[in-house]
Amino acid sequence: MAEEIKRPVKITDTILRDAHQSLIATRMKTEEMLPIIEKLDQVGYHSVECWGGATFDACLRFLKEDPWDRLRQLRSGFKNTKLQMLLRGQNILGYRHYADDVVEYFVQKAVANGIDIIRIFDALNDIRNLDTAVKATKREGGHAQIAISYTLSDIHTLDYYVNLSKEIEEMGADSICIKDMAGLLVPYEAEKLVKALKANIKVPIQLHGHYTSGVAAMSYLKAVEAGVDIIDTAMSPFAMGTAQPATEVMVETFKGTPFDTGYNQELLAEIADHFRPLREEALSTGLLNPKVLGVNIKTLLYQVPGGMLSNLLSQLQKQKAEDRFYEVLEEIPRVRADYGYPPLVTPSSQIVGTQAVLNVLTGERYKMVTKESKSIVRGEYGRTPAPISEKIKQKIIGDEKQITCRPADLIEPELDKIEAEMLHYKEQDEDVLSYALFSQVAEEFFKYRQAQKSKIDPKAADEENKVYPV
Ligand code: CO
Repeated sequence: MAEEIKRPVKITDTILRDAHQSLIATRMKTEEMLPIIEKLDQVGYHSVECWGGATFDACLRFLKEDPWDRLRQLRSGFKNTKLQMLLRGQNILGYRHYADDVVEYFVQKAVANGIDIIRIFDALNDIRNLDTAVKATKREGGHAQIAISYTLSDIHTLDYYVNLSKEIEEMGADSICIKDMAGLLVPYEAEKLVKALKANIKVPIQLHGHYTSGVAAMSYLKAVEAGVDIIDTAMSPFAMGTAQPATEVMVETFKGTPFDTGYNQELLAEIADHFRPLREEALSTGLLNPKVLGVNIKTLLYQVPGGMLSNLLSQLQKQKAEDRFYEVLEEIPRVRADYGYPPLVTPSSQIVGTQAVLNVLTGERYKMVTKESKSIVRGEYGRTPAPISEKIKQKIIGDEKQITCRPADLIEPELDKIEAEMLHYKEQDEDVLSYALFSQVAEEFFKYRQAQKSKIDPKAADEENKVYPV
């Protein structure tokens, strides 16, 4: 009997980024990561996703940590494993479009501080918004992975995805990721999509799913059988729910098959032992809401990604309007259709989500319109997958003009100006980028950092004086 051809599936573990972003609002601290890095590094992962996405903002805003320092600490711990980050194209990790010089400098510093693979995506799949980041990544010697934001609508057909992937490959992507942030990719569609892409694309294909609707592990199985090269999973204590399928489960699934990862299940169990108490603690403090852990089949109806579900819930809780949750969920697809069917992912998920909340709570659709809603309709985020109707345009921006060029073409270089603004806080080059992305939050962090130092320094000086009296 002919021996079966081995085609081990590769795994990116998201435990240090998407897993905790999806389940506990990105609150995992660096000190909670460091003790387990040595073991994570022994697994043999394709990569560990550990930076970017919301982690940068969360570090500065909530954890009072320097995200660059986190990256350097992770880099020095991971000796064998590639480190991966998520980047929102021209938005970098922020919520607006930046000038090319900021994007280029950010990518340069991300690679210089230890990132190997940059997954780059645009919320609207407008590939003009990826160009600068992709070129910069390749110039710095990084691996540029381009992600397609997966969504469902009349215009998001198999042909649409194949054509988009061909354009992406031509742009120079080193690999392509199907980014299913909402858990919309059902198993047999996954099989069809992966087969179609594998038939047309030469670079490796990676699948990034979320368990929100309960089908992700089955979709992974069908995708792997159909030829997908890499899957994204999370260590079990922070897996499933609105996060990824569990690493251990997928490893076990493929054991003894041509797709066998060869990973050591005992080592994975030891790693899970490290994260389990963190899960228990998050459950006891309420940081991990059991609501995001169950199967939410409504995500298939409303196409709402996991992170967005938990954000909406807390937004409504703050307004004491938790009981309007399902009304808001029903309003989301209507707003999405009005805005030309953008895939729901940062920042479009926030734009559509917040507008849906306003539409429900004010009792009249578009009575109040956010600044970001105006921006998306004006074309300031790029081209929406479908055109926006004249009626909606009138309602939201009146007679204002829309732009049709790449939005960043209208932004002058801004790095020097930004640096001049924050120079008195600058302790490292990277601080300029923290400030560029989150000026107010970064400023508060810089002040905090200074205060911590002046708290520590006099004491340290005293200690020194004791040892070496002068
Ligand atoms: Co994700």
